[in-house]
Amino acid sequence: MLSGKRIILGVTGGIAAYKAAFLLREFQKAGAEVRVTMTPSATRFVGLVTFASLSGHDVAVDIFPDDNEAGEWTRHINWGEWADLYVIAPCTANTIAKISKGISDNMLTSTVLAARCPILVCPTMDGEMYESPGVSQNLKTLGKMGYHILEPEIGFLASGMEGKGRLPEFTAILEKASDIIGNIKGPLMGKKVIVTAGPTREHIDPVRFISNPSSGKMGVAMAQAAKNMGADVTLIHGPLSVPKPDDIHTIKITSASDLFETVKNYHKADVIIMSAAVSDFTPTRVHDHKIKKSDSEDSIQLKKTQDILAWLGEHKIEGQVLIGFAMETENLIENATKKLQNKNADYIIANSLNETGAGFESDSNSVHLLNKDSDRQFKGPKKDIAIEILNTIFR
Ligand code: CTP
Repeated sequence: MLSGKRIILGVTGGIAAYKAAFLLREFQKAGAEVRVTMTPSATRFVGLVTFASLSGHDVAVDIFPDDNEAGEWTRHINWGEWADLYVIAPCTANTIAKISKGISDNMLTSTVLAARCPILVCPTMDGEMYESPGVSQNLKTLGKMGYHILEPEIGFLASGMEGKGRLPEFTAILEKASDIIGNIKGPLMGKKVIVTAGPTREHIDPVRFISNPSSGKMGVAMAQAAKNMGADVTLIHGPLSVPKPDDIHTIKITSASDLFETVKNYHKADVIIMSAAVSDFTPTRVHDHKIKKSDSEDSIQLKKTQDILAWLGEHKIEGQVLIGFAMETENLIENATKKLQNKNADYIIANSLNETGAGFESDSNSVHLLNKDSDRQFKGPKKDIAIEILNTIFR
């Protein structure tokens, strides 16, 4: 159940903080990707380098780090959108009190407020503290707010006394996490989503074609993100340079005209995401044999292909969400806004080919998500951007 899931592990300042390092490993063994956020007091129990090394990712602690790196300011929001589940283990009485009141004074508590995924709280503290009216009241409040609470276990505590306050066994935490994830009804549950990806090939003859360097990475990431949000996804794709997802229904096409004919069969889907890099031109004639050098023909006559997104925009059905891309080398926002209007799309994901670490074959991207009222920017790995975009649109 946890395989392929994204978990934020929040670690607060209790003696059980050291156990969180082992818990992180258990989540990873179950196939989850884990990022860690710690309260400043948790770093007094376990060094953040431990969690950074184990998770292979920076650990979020301060909202305002010393170097004022721009990315830090919004990280709690991005992480909140990235995660499928947020587990706070161990969770101290202090953090329980803060999150029950909506306080956001460090990266962990801010990320809680920004999270759009379920949150599992594992309270650990001294038995007397756990039974105290303040903690009981705050835990009740969290329960009413929809947080999942895993009660602590009874046993020997750091104080030397016996009581209810120990972090539960990892198997109990993993079981609870799996239950929560298994019961998530993603926002795209029951929705039919069509994603197109990769380049098209316009054959001139059996061995030559016109195409572009699209890898299909962004489209595959969009398809996977939609699937993880509960959608019934069909991925219609040209030649991909990344593996096809195993758990998604796929249809392979070659040319823009194949793509058009296939998309038409699905044009009543709830959501259509046109990430394919469709060739705008195709040869007027396709030779059925290899053109020889000796043949007199030395130019190729081209004709325009059907603009599939524009066709979908014209035939849009009530309630459908139509998402297109815009690949630009200049005047990014202006040109993408024109595409939004001219093609009657609900959203355009615009990327500039001039930016480094963005575009066709890169693993990362930098895009603007435009609709008629807003412009939001996303940067980072294509997989993360896909999740954040779909969360922004559908959650
Ligand atoms: N698109 C399409 N059919 C085409 C060409 C493009 O459906 N024949 C879609 C793409 O999948 C993308 C959007 O239209 O979602 C914009 O594609 P892009 O290549 O950026 O722009 P074009 O429409 O081709 O316009 P231009 O070449 O003038 O930038």
